[in-house]
Amino acid sequence: MKICTLAGDGVGIEVTREALRVLNAVAPQFGLEIETTDHLIGGAAITAIGDPYPEETRAACVKSDAVLLGAVGSPEYDDLPPNQRPEIGLLRLRQSLGGFANLRPARAFPALIGSSPLREDVFRGTDMMIVRELLGGLYFGEPRGVNDDNSEAFNTMRYSVAEIERVARVAFETARIRSKKLTSVDKANVLETSRLWRQTVTKVAEDYPDVTLDHLFVDACAMHLVTNPSRFDVIVTENLFGDILSDEAAVLTGSLGMLASATIGGQIDLYEPVHGSAPDIAGKNIANPLGAIASAAMLLRYTAKNEPAAVAIDKAIEKFLDEGHRTVDIAKISETSVSTSDAGEIVAKFAVEFAQSGQARHAV
Ligand code: IPM
Ligand code: MN
Repeated sequence: MKICTLAGDGVGIEVTREALRVLNAVAPQFGLEIETTDHLIGGAAITAIGDPYPEETRAACVKSDAVLLGAVGSPEYDDLPPNQRPEIGLLRLRQSLGGFANLRPARAFPALIGSSPLREDVFRGTDMMIVRELLGGLYFGEPRGVNDDNSEAFNTMRYSVAEIERVARVAFETARIRSKKLTSVDKANVLETSRLWRQTVTKVAEDYPDVTLDHLFVDACAMHLVTNPSRFDVIVTENLFGDILSDEAAVLTGSLGMLASATIGGQIDLYEPVHGSAPDIAGKNIANPLGAIASAAMLLRYTAKNEPAAVAIDKAIEKFLDEGHRTVDIAKISETSVSTSDAGEIVAKFAVEFAQSGQARHAV
């Protein structure tokens, strides 16, 4: 398997290194050969080449089987014009790979229930998957812009039936292999795009009679996420709503640093932790690499189609937490914490042990 790694900016560099450490340790245990190449994106690419998504990076990505991304963005680029910022590199990357379904799992790790901002009895049992539409809506809709005297700015939310249908199918398929419950989130009481979204998802549901579908307005969904998160199984929603709701869901688990994502459906799959570049803690070897490591597990699950290898990593993350290891973001005041690189080393060791014990094969 050819994997293009784009560590990007800030903590992206540190956490991607650990994700690769785990991946390189686990893959051979399952007979997988992995070849990785590093390329520039985001601020790092602006500084070196003057473009947040250079042509050589694009060319390498589209020739690979999967792309593993760290994070992009740094305050030093805040003054650049909007279309030259590091984040634009990420959007151009997503567009060029073609993946339109961004899967963002968020679940309660038993060892971390106490780190959730929610009360334990509210949060316990939470296990959801947010399917965020990634290539449409306000992020890409035209026309967009600012008028000449900067007194007005505009963006366009636009969705076609085909765009809604394809992401809805991924969500129904995902629900089918989980608890068979899908919640579609929109703002159909106000927006035309949302009414089309609701009609289209309802139509697609006819092909999935085994999945129970309900609809929620996005404001109500934001509320249910904090009052009753365990009611959710799979959530499907448009790009901006998904961006916002997935941060909310992520932080319920105790730390944004824990969460992984996979973007599928296009020519090349893309894997990235949900967290950003966290410039305030970059370069200190204290970032939580679990989100990046869990993204590598998703890569093994969805691109390599090697469920046992993915499970070995997932179980290693769980064991790491169960044994009480903590990076600073999830450590309580009284607890000592491990560094980014120590965390990667420990998880890699556990993952290899699971692989060799054969236990990974028997897990879910
Ligand atoms: C995310 C991020 C990105 C997004 C930014 C960095 C462009 O917030 O992956 O959720 O809005 O999609
Ligand atoms: Mn986001």
